[in-house]
Amino acid sequence: MTDNQKTDKATSAPHGSMQPEDTPALRKLYADFQKHHLNPLWTQTANLMPPHPKPEAVTHIWDWSTLYALAAQSGELVPVGRGGERRAIGLANPGLGGRAYISPTLWAAVQYLGPQENAPEHRHAQNAFRFVIEGEGVWTVVDGDPVRMSRGDLLLTPGWKFHGHQNIATEPMVWLDGLDIPFGQQMDVGFFEFGPDVVSDLSTPDLSRAERLWGHPGIRPLSALDEQMNSPLPAYRWVHTDAALRQQLALEAEGHNVTQSPGHAAIRFVNPTNGGDVLPTIRCQFHRLRQGATSQSRREVGSSVFQVFQGTGSVKLAGKRYTLRKGDIFVVPSWIEWSLEAISEFDLFHFSDAPIMEKLNFARHEITTKT
Ligand SMILES: [Fe+2]
Repeated sequence: MTDNQKTDKATSAPHGSMQPEDTPALRKLYADFQKHHLNPLWTQTANLMPPHPKPEAVTHIWDWSTLYALAAQSGELVPVGRGGERRAIGLANPGLGGRAYISPTLWAAVQYLGPQENAPEHRHAQNAFRFVIEGEGVWTVVDGDPVRMSRGDLLLTPGWKFHGHQNIATEPMVWLDGLDIPFGQQMDVGFFEFGPDVVSDLSTPDLSRAERLWGHPGIRPLSALDEQMNSPLPAYRWVHTDAALRQQLALEAEGHNVTQSPGHAAIRFVNPTNGGDVLPTIRCQFHRLRQGATSQSRREVGSSVFQVFQGTGSVKLAGKRYTLRKGDIFVVPSWIEWSLEAISEFDLFHFSDAPIMEKLNFARHEITTKT
């Protein structure tokens, strides 16, 4: 038996499970397994089939002031252009061995685009979104349609759509990128192609063509009645998100039971062709807690990432409380209990891999305490 197999056996075999007698013949059997690239289930059952998810990813908070300062430093030292493609800095979960994975399925990065810079077009199989915490002056061109990026907006770049960015402002802009890169890498589904070196449409309209077609509440064009896998709406504007959250809390104050829990307004961004998630692999939501409110305490199969948009508060992760300010990003690995508490009115953008978990029938959740 090798040292590894001894360790596996000691740490992985379920308590009270079958334990073969340690004999020279058994040791030779295990050595032969290794020689022929085999690994028996009975020495590792507890790792392969745990009683509940035991993620390698860990909870972690990234401080916005640190992220912003390092992004700005990258802006001075690292050009943006063909090859590197994007000045995006991936958040690497400390439990995942240094890879730029914030969770086993999700990628999160801060992307920095300096004044007058242009990020060349490309396309890839992976799905992407941007969430803008501050700034103005960048347009992302998605399949030839320029989409304005403004504070509080959620912008979509579904898989295999060409996209590039241009900053026409005199100030840099930093935003959050979310993708399903780790999931795609685990599944070996990645394809990538270069597009033009400069974005294909340099115009800067207030509304993209797709928003003019799709961006009207509860209305869809008769020319596009088929269900689409990706949302055809490329931008979910802050003015609508803010109004939806504000009205939810106002209705609650008028005595209507419309919030997720007392003082906790929450919305999901949806695909207008089917009411489902905006992307096939990523769910995007937004939370607003009234000053002093506490959310339910929950845990879910799958991983979530949050970014504080405005206000101050805290998150409790697996029983430990962390104070949060604007821009801070944190990750909730699978089956880790989380809850939010608002000091001031507290707004958070939230994305997760829930569509994957639901489609594959792995989704479970538990509300562990109620306020
Ligand atoms: Fe991209």
